[in-house]
Amino acid sequence: MLSKSLILSLFASSVAAAGVTGTPFGFGAATTGGGDAEPVYPTTTEELTSYLTDDEARVIILNQEFNFIGTEGETTEDGCRPDSNTCPDDGGQDAINGADWCTNSDYPTVSVTYDKAAITPINVNSNKSIVGEGTKGVIRGKGLRFAGSENIIVQNIHITELNPQYIWGGDAITLAGTDLIWIDHVKTSLVGRQHIVAGYDPSNRVTISNTEIDGNTSWSASCDNHHYWALLLIGSGDTITFQGNYIHHTSGRSPKVGGTDSGTLLHAVNNYFYDNTGHAFSITADENGRVLAEGNVFESVTKPIEDGVDLLYAVTDDGAACSSPLGRTCQVNQLTSSGDWSGSATDFLSSFADEGVEAEVASGVAASVKSNAGVGKL
Ligand SMILES: *[C@@H]1O[C@H](CO)[C@@H](O)[C@H](O)[C@H]1NC(C)=O
Ligand SMILES: *[C@@H]1O[C@H](CO)[C@@H](O)[C@H](O)[C@H]1NC(C)=O
Repeated sequence: MLSKSLILSLFASSVAAAGVTGTPFGFGAATTGGGDAEPVYPTTTEELTSYLTDDEARVIILNQEFNFIGTEGETTEDGCRPDSNTCPDDGGQDAINGADWCTNSDYPTVSVTYDKAAITPINVNSNKSIVGEGTKGVIRGKGLRFAGSENIIVQNIHITELNPQYIWGGDAITLAGTDLIWIDHVKTSLVGRQHIVAGYDPSNRVTISNTEIDGNTSWSASCDNHHYWALLLIGSGDTITFQGNYIHHTSGRSPKVGGTDSGTLLHAVNNYFYDNTGHAFSITADENGRVLAEGNVFESVTKPIEDGVDLLYAVTDDGAACSSPLGRTCQVNQLTSSGDWSGSATDFLSSFADEGVEAEVASGVAASVKSNAGVGKL
């Protein structure tokens, strides 16, 4: 029999921070969030916002739903109908005039009515752990944004219902100039725009793991119940470990990778891409995204790679190209009922040498990701 104190110390060694299960790994490994701060349990949207934005290191436990829909009112104004909306009466997405999208286009004007809370995410301050309890940690109608702050853990929460009928209706998670972010066992669904976006400002060291990107929607820019705007990773100098995630019912940008200056360096490892009617990877040719994709499973993905094969090591062989730069072989990807997949760029592989993440073989990935990714599965 193990003594109680030994069991406790074994348990403690697997806990990164109070309230958090497990420890971060990969590029975001040094993230500590709120550390061992005494946990707080917000009970209202105002209290949640206050804990997320104040200057204290905090462990914020979500043991209930926080519904922001209606808290800032609704607005009706001119938006537009983009060419992609070929099904206005049957589940298309019109657009709010976000980023002057409508003003700068010839798209016909349409009236849009939307919830204002989803348009402005919460600007989370540094040193926070945001953790859901069981399946209770749901945030409806508002996203989280990490900009000018750093060292944040988000675990086991579900962000949903951000004006899903409208392009520019809201992003679930935004990184825009940050460092040390760990997003783990999160679920995002029914958003208007991006599920996760790492914008142009450097977001430095990031790990996104065991997360479910659920693109199932009744308002689709591709008119087929699949969400187009899934993952946009276009930071400058970002290093992102993307492991064990479940990306399903999408139709584009799953992910789109780019970025100016040194661009985004992405390790996409052991993810399960399922039922994508458009493209998964799109790596912008005139930007500097570079991707190592290994041990992933693509099932029913129309175009696993849309463009940018010259910036991708797609591992279609024995992965021996990794032997010299990484001291191991890389794992082949597995594709079933999916389109073409290629990419033999290897000159950047040594950039992953210190990341410390090794891939499992792809054969067990679909089953393990389905049972492990998303909320309520810690
Ligand atoms: C976050 O924690 C670090 C390390 O303790 C500290 O230097 C920094 O000032 C903290 N930031 C905020 C906004 O509290
Ligand atoms: C998509 O969402 C609809 C509406 O909630 C639901 O009825 C349907 O079962 C979902 N489909 C999938 C494949 O998850």
